[in-house]
Amino acid sequence: MDKDVIVALDEGTSNVKAVAIDSRGAVVATASRGLTLATPRPGWVEQDGDVLFAESVVVLREVISAVGEARVAALAISNQRETAIGWERESGQPLGPALTWQCSRSGPFCERLRRDRLDEVIRSTTGLPVAPLFSGSKMRWLLDNTPQGHERAQRGEICLGTIDAWLLWRLTGGAQFRCDYSNAARTQLLNLQSLAWDDAMLALFGIPQAALPEICPSASEFGVTKGITGIADGIPILAMVGDSHAALYGHGLGRPGGIKATYGTGSSVMAPLPAPDTRITQLATTVAWHDGERAVYGLEGNIPHTGDGLAWMLQLTGMNALADVQRSDVLQSLPASVPSTDGVYFVPALTGSGAPWWDDRARGLICGLSRGSSPAHLVRAALEAIAYQIADVIDSMTQHPDFHLSTLMVDGGPTRNGWLMQFQADLLNCPVARSVTAELSALGAGLLARRVLDGLSDESLQALLPQHEVWQPDAARHRRLQESYQGWREAVSRTHWKSE
Ligand code: G3P
Repeated sequence: MDKDVIVALDEGTSNVKAVAIDSRGAVVATASRGLTLATPRPGWVEQDGDVLFAESVVVLREVISAVGEARVAALAISNQRETAIGWERESGQPLGPALTWQCSRSGPFCERLRRDRLDEVIRSTTGLPVAPLFSGSKMRWLLDNTPQGHERAQRGEICLGTIDAWLLWRLTGGAQFRCDYSNAARTQLLNLQSLAWDDAMLALFGIPQAALPEICPSASEFGVTKGITGIADGIPILAMVGDSHAALYGHGLGRPGGIKATYGTGSSVMAPLPAPDTRITQLATTVAWHDGERAVYGLEGNIPHTGDGLAWMLQLTGMNALADVQRSDVLQSLPASVPSTDGVYFVPALTGSGAPWWDDRARGLICGLSRGSSPAHLVRAALEAIAYQIADVIDSMTQHPDFHLSTLMVDGGPTRNGWLMQFQADLLNCPVARSVTAELSALGAGLLARRVLDGLSDESLQALLPQHEVWQPDAARHRRLQESYQGWREAVSRTHWKSE
């Protein structure tokens, strides 16, 4: 039998999926497991690195056995980005929990960097604004909070990595300590021009290079599986890439001109760039991927709470108890059951706000409540908040003359909600095109692996890209929404109260 399948692991924040993709780009098997987050203090968000790995193995095993091990040619990984984890090089034991991208515990350190006026040098070197979202300050926190952490890291006894590096280390039985350029670009330690760890940034963040992984192209021979119960030894891992970047690749947006939004726990709005360009200060410049020949860059706005804000609201209103299928029906019928939120806004800055506001001391708010406010208004406000936040980022992006929004390409779990897609199209007054393949991050990582496996060119990969389903905007609704959008902006301005 032909080895025609790539199994892509999409290790997200709320769940981990494995997706088997055949040589025509078709998804032939999937498996998924939910993941939990711990929030031990306000603004702190953690996950257990061992659980992330164990659940990844569960879904990989399930999909590999569904397609038959003989068909599996390679693995690919797309992953939640910026989350930082440390472990003992000798034993592989984590130093503690993984500090997830939403975690703002390194906020005070970031504030110090800003006070010392280091934000501009950091932004121009790494493309990223100073914010606790990015891994560098989280890695610093891990070393500060490990006995003799800095000394031991200096001696090479501690590994610090993003989630791709952690999974690769575990999947290869500790043989490979590597990450890809897209994940390295989220640490705030990578020099965007030289594409190497930057000595000045390492010194500012107090991270010794001895603790960091080797950086490789996203499409690379990263290593082979070894010593995992239920998974054969020797399966090559041929791609690793951040999930949002993988989705950009999956939309076929390698050339400048398009903009996509990935909706998940948080959301990422990204547009490809031919070279680093740090002129738009509210947004991040990043490496979208490196295909083995060249790096493609991306301009990105990262929003910490979109699907997550909705999940929080469903919990508040007691609707999280609904079964998945019921819940997805309710999430379309409930917002449509009221003509508007009646002036209610929910700004889900639950651990601070990301792009384009970057205020880690901001906190969420619900405002505009009246005696007649109902769960329908609140749930609608949480759904609208997703669309408004995406619009805020696009607004910053399109202030730059090089970016025009003709169609917004979208993917991710919340895009299955047709009501939300129509609202987004009306709000932006542009078509919204949803990939028919739900698992676009997995697909993007799988296609990058296919480049290594079959040596496919960009042109032949185009044939494997999914179709899109399109929502057209309604001009009258767009005009009516302008006032609501102004109200949203006013609500956002009130989340900044703590920093005044
Ligand atoms: O930057 C964080 C992002 O990569 C997380 O993705 O899919 O878990 O929302 P997701």
